[in-house]
Amino acid sequence: MNRLFILLGMVLLCIVLIAAVLAVQSRSSSMGAYTYVIGISQANQRDPWRLVLSKELQSEAAKHSNIRLVFTDAADDVEKQKADIKRLLASGVDLMIVSPCNAVALTQTVREAYRSVPIIVLDRVVDGYDYTLFIGPDNRLIGRQAGKAVLELAKTEEVKVLEISGSSASLVSQDRHAGFAEEMAQASQVELCTVYVEDGTRDGAEDLLLSLGPELADIDYIFAHTDYLGLGAFKAVTALGFDQIKLVSIDGFQIPDGGLDLLARGVLSATITCPTGGKEAIQYALDILHKKQGVPKQVILRNHTVTRESLGQYRQLLANDPLPVQQPIRVAHAQIADEGGWRSANKESIAQAAKDFGVSLTSIDASSLPEQIAVVRSFIADAFDIIVLSPIVESGWETVLRECKEAGIPVFLSDRKVEVSDDQLYYSFIGGDFIEEGRRAMRWVVSAIQPTLKPVRILEIQGTADASPTKERKQGFYEVLSLMKSYEVVASPNGDYNFTGGYEAVQGYGQGKEVWDIDVIYSHNDDMALGAVKALKEMGLNPGLDVLIVSIDGTSTALKALKQGTLNCVVECSPLFGPQLMKAIEDYMSGKDLPRRIITDEIVFTKDTQEHLFKRRQY
Ligand code: AHR
Repeated sequence: MNRLFILLGMVLLCIVLIAAVLAVQSRSSSMGAYTYVIGISQANQRDPWRLVLSKELQSEAAKHSNIRLVFTDAADDVEKQKADIKRLLASGVDLMIVSPCNAVALTQTVREAYRSVPIIVLDRVVDGYDYTLFIGPDNRLIGRQAGKAVLELAKTEEVKVLEISGSSASLVSQDRHAGFAEEMAQASQVELCTVYVEDGTRDGAEDLLLSLGPELADIDYIFAHTDYLGLGAFKAVTALGFDQIKLVSIDGFQIPDGGLDLLARGVLSATITCPTGGKEAIQYALDILHKKQGVPKQVILRNHTVTRESLGQYRQLLANDPLPVQQPIRVAHAQIADEGGWRSANKESIAQAAKDFGVSLTSIDASSLPEQIAVVRSFIADAFDIIVLSPIVESGWETVLRECKEAGIPVFLSDRKVEVSDDQLYYSFIGGDFIEEGRRAMRWVVSAIQPTLKPVRILEIQGTADASPTKERKQGFYEVLSLMKSYEVVASPNGDYNFTGGYEAVQGYGQGKEVWDIDVIYSHNDDMALGAVKALKEMGLNPGLDVLIVSIDGTSTALKALKQGTLNCVVECSPLFGPQLMKAIEDYMSGKDLPRRIITDEIVFTKDTQEHLFKRRQY
């Protein structure tokens, strides 16, 4: 009897093993490499934009024999798209690319799927950060660029502009309208009126404008939210005989009736490109599947303003094969003088990456705006190929960045942002999402301490005034704070992002106080938080117990303090984006079109964070 069972068991085992081998073999390409199956959940397969996206995904995937794509089409029905995602998951895909028809409504489904497979969200971002990577446009920026294009055409004339928006419920259209209106508001001589094409189709636009008829007689410019809305509008105004109207729209594809074709045919005066991100999605999908380091959290794609005059040049850019790069690339970095752990790690990451990429890097520190401007001017004088700028503060950069542009030297922003009237004064930004870091800090406060009869009293230690991390970490923190009752920030001293600054901020607050009356310290960075710990100890208080402390960066010193319990939460802001910066610079020099913004991937550390995540710390 036993022998029979053993025999049966062995037969069963063989069957399971054979099945497993067959399953792997079915995933093995003819060359034996493992074949990844990527599920693509498309919002619809109707809009010209989405048809271009599907084509781009297929043509990029076709370059890799170990990829197989499986498409689903939600036909703009969010319930169907939820079901599509669940079905793709159940079918065992290795990674999913989701292009939402309704990003907000799809957030929960994407969040659940993200627990099982890597998810790339394309085009419309879901709420929160529960996905691997987002690739898409900045629609507000696109709207602003369209506004600039209309004002460029209108010059100083009194003009009447008709905006043809897609559905009033569409977040894409709302952002494009907001950016466009922002630019129009700059020009007193412009009158703007907006109409909505709820189905977003070419025919819908044509019908709507035909129904407006004579009301269009005094319109000078039409801004359409997509090229196909623009084509519909063109058909209508031509039929109505209003040939004076000039059209500006968005997308700029090289397909029949696409924006570039309509420009060449004189239908449009300008189009703002809105690339699909399909190519990048497949390239990053492979990086993710191969567990490559440095995959960002968000890639915000670049948009070009293409006019009839610049059409040829833009077509050249599209046709360009990567150029051989003249090594070494001469890069100059206007860096910020030492503040603490984060800054030195950032410098090291960039210096090491420059070595690895064979880039000749000159890095000069400065501790004030005038000093940094002088450094940038010296870089212009030395005719570097590229200038990397970590702006100590946001404002005051307009003039010297215009000088860089006139000198033909592109500027990459590293880690911090600038406030300028023309976004084209810098080429790309690489760094963290400071607003989200601030939100994460306040979300942790809410999870860690609940108000009793008395409100929770918070002491905020701010970083350098007018620096983008300071402004945005404050904005994100207050965004969540404003939703909560009985939490209040009672003081916001400035600690200038260094240890002493944090120490003095707490000491200064405690001075002359009989009783310590703060429940939580929110510090804009680790160095200041560690200074605060020292000050609290000198006051006879137990940091992390008597006062909870949340900070931002994730330096190893701070994580050690977290483990010891003197800090309670550390929101990561990664300084280690040297390799991404050098890759972007190399790609730029080879003529590639780069994203507008690359946002690094970051996590939150608490005492419950898994050990292995502490272990991988490199700074
Ligand atoms: O700009 C990034 C910030 O600069 C870091 O969070 C901080 O430590 C540094 O001062």
